[in-house]
Amino acid sequence: MPEAKSWSGLWQKNYERIIMNTLEAISQRRSIRRFKDTPVPDEMIVKIINSAIQAPSGKNRQPWRFVVVKEDKRPEMIRIMRESIAKIKEQGGDTGSSEWTSNAMEKAPVTIFIFNPYAENTPGEGHTSNVVDVQSVGAAIQNMLLSAQELGIGSLWICDVFYAYNKLCEWLGEKHEMIAAVSLGYPDEQPNGRPRKLVNEVTRWF
Ligand SMILES: Cc1cc2nc3c(=O)[nH]c(=O)nc-3n(C[C@H](O)[C@H](O)[C@H](O)COP(=O)(O)O)c2cc1C
Repeated sequence: MPEAKSWSGLWQKNYERIIMNTLEAISQRRSIRRFKDTPVPDEMIVKIINSAIQAPSGKNRQPWRFVVVKEDKRPEMIRIMRESIAKIKEQGGDTGSSEWTSNAMEKAPVTIFIFNPYAENTPGEGHTSNVVDVQSVGAAIQNMLLSAQELGIGSLWICDVFYAYNKLCEWLGEKHEMIAAVSLGYPDEQPNGRPRKLVNEVTRWF
């Protein structure tokens, strides 16, 4: 029996393929800020959220809730973002990269908001538990980006939604802690990899 047809051979081959896919997805992923108009099918959105919920989480609390905003609601989302940013500017506040981010969100057919449902009622442990939960949500979001990459869908992890935190939460009818948003769509750009510090610049072998 050839090696690949034995159970262990098949497992080994499959395992190698999975490793290759994961490493490839990690190295090829880029933040995408230009998207095609082509809608993202709901099945893809479900697949991406399904990848998110496979992430590890502290005490398996799964501290994530997802709110999907599609094309029909996009203009209102962008209006809320821009009004909030304008208000901050009027008051002389810093709006960072939020206008640039709003432009990217305006092009994306889908934006998924991610909330932590436990922020207000963390049992006993307070801050520590919140830090653990936020890390868990980060893992879920990274799974979303990598599975989107694998499916040929571009993604953008967004925290500039915080510039419109209250208005967006109110609009979405959410009382929970907003952690981030992820815009998704078929990419209309192929950016080069952004610079990274080298492993030896950020690692100390103790
Ligand atoms: C927590 C977090 C928040 C981010 N927020 C934004 C954002 O609001 N707007 C934006 O355009 N990019 C945002 N990004 C994307 C980063 O700018 C991007 O990951 C970084 O520049 C590296 O580029 P790359 O993702 O293409 O490797 C965010 C990324 C992370 C992890």
